[in-house]
Amino acid sequence: MDWGMKNRLSRIIKPDTGHTVMLAIDHGYFLGPIKKLEDPGETIAPILSYADALMLTRGVLRNCVDADIQSPIVLRVSGGNSILGKDLSNEDITVAMKDALRVNASAVALSIYVGAEYEHRTLVNLSRLVDEGQDCGMPVLAVTAVGKELEKRSARFLSLACRIAAEMGVQFVKTYYCEGFEKVVKSCPVPLVIAGGPKLETEFDALRIASEAIKRGAVGVDMGRNIFQSSDPVAMLKAIRAIVHEGASFEKASAIFKGGGVKGKGKKKG
Ligand code: 5RP
Repeated sequence: MDWGMKNRLSRIIKPDTGHTVMLAIDHGYFLGPIKKLEDPGETIAPILSYADALMLTRGVLRNCVDADIQSPIVLRVSGGNSILGKDLSNEDITVAMKDALRVNASAVALSIYVGAEYEHRTLVNLSRLVDEGQDCGMPVLAVTAVGKELEKRSARFLSLACRIAAEMGVQFVKTYYCEGFEKVVKSCPVPLVIAGGPKLETEFDALRIASEAIKRGAVGVDMGRNIFQSSDPVAMLKAIRAIVHEGASFEKASAIFKGGGVKGKGKKKG
C-alpha cells in the first residue's frame, strides 16, 4: 500500500488499537431527513469528538460541519435513488474523486448490491472507484447494502458480498453482523466494520451486536441510528469505544452506558 493510502487509512483505523469507531450520518442520501438527522450539524456537535471518523455526504459536510474539525471524513460517493424509487440498487458514482480530495476525505464509500437487479452496475462502479482511489491514494470502503431485503443478512450472503468487494480491491468493507459472522470475517481478506441498521429496541441490543462482532474479528463499527437516535448518544459512543478499543465485555459496556454520557461539547475521547 502506498504512503498516502496508508496514511489516510491510519486516520480511520487507529494504529494503536487496530480498531475504529465510525459515526455514520449519510442516511439522507436516499432516506431524506430521518429522525435526529433533520439538522445533522446540531446532532453531531456534542458527539463527534467521541467518534474516530465521520461518514457523510459532501452536501451535509459542506453545509453542516465546521471545516476546522479534526475527524477524518469518510465520504459517501454513491447514490442516485430514493426510498420511493423502484429499486434501491440502481446507484451510480455521484461524486468526482477530485471533489473527495478537495474536501480532504480520508476514504470514499460506495454501496454494492450483490444479488439485486443492479448488482452489475454497482460492482462496476466499485471497480472504477478503486482504480481512481489507487491513482490518488484514496482508500475505498465498500458498503454491502441489503436494500429492503433484510432477510439477506446471512453469513452465506454477506460472505459473498464482502469477498467480492475485497476481490475488487477495496481497502475495507462495511457489512452487517449476522449469525456465523466469523465466517464472513475469515473469508474477507480486508478489514471489516459493521453497520448497526435501524434503531434496535434497546441500546443494549446494539451493544451486544458490537461486542459479538468485535469478538469475531470486526475491526470496528460504522454505526448511525443506534447512536444518534439513542436517548444518550454520548454514553452510547463511550460504551462502544470501550468494546472496540479496549475489548470491554458487553456487561462492562452496558454499565458504561447506564452511567450516562457527558452532555456538552468537546469532551475528550475515552
Ligand atoms: C446507509 C449507510 C449507513 O451509513 C449505514 O447503514 C450505517 O448506519 P446505521 O448504523 O444507521 O445502519 O450506509 O446506506
